[in-house]
Amino acid sequence: MFRTGFAVAALAFATTAVLAQSGALEQRNALMKSVWRDAWRPVTQMVRGQEPYEQAKVDAAFAKLAEIAAKLPPLWPANSIGVAPDANFSSSAKIWENKADFEAKLANFTKAVNENRSKAKNLDELKTVYQVVNKTCDDCHESYRVRVR
Ligand code: HEC
Repeated sequence: MFRTGFAVAALAFATTAVLAQSGALEQRNALMKSVWRDAWRPVTQMVRGQEPYEQAKVDAAFAKLAEIAAKLPPLWPANSIGVAPDANFSSSAKIWENKADFEAKLANFTKAVNENRSKAKNLDELKTVYQVVNKTCDDCHESYRVRVR
């Protein structure tokens, strides 16, 4: 009886671990899409003069970035290499070969967001902040993001 209970518990644990991993793959792709769609695209359009500067949208974009940045760290567990459904990009295998460097790049991004999120109060200031944060996106993508379609 005890053994059966233990085996069931162990099986439930193993199943949860597998689900958590496949979830990580989908979650990180969905969050990266949201980074662009809900935060960085509207800001990019303002910086490029395609949309008028709007303080409320800038503040909302940075709040979204900070919210997503806080969710990202656990989403590259071991054995979660793969391509999410509907992904345009995936995570390079190099992430797991250089995990410390990847985590440092993620920390740089989070720091840049948190240190700069309240600094843009007009278009010129937004352009400055934009360069700082955008560099942390590019730094990571250059090494660790792979186009899949
Ligand atoms: C620490 C690394 C890192 C940082 C910082 C980062 N990204 Fe990503 N990004 C990735 C990885 C890895 C993927 C592939 C995710 C996956 O496994 O599906 C990705 C995917 C994407 C995608 C493609 C999603 C798709 O499949 O269509 C977009 C768009 C994106 N990132 C935008 C951004 C923007 C904008 C920023 C900065 C504001 C940013 N990312 C910051 C690593 C990063």
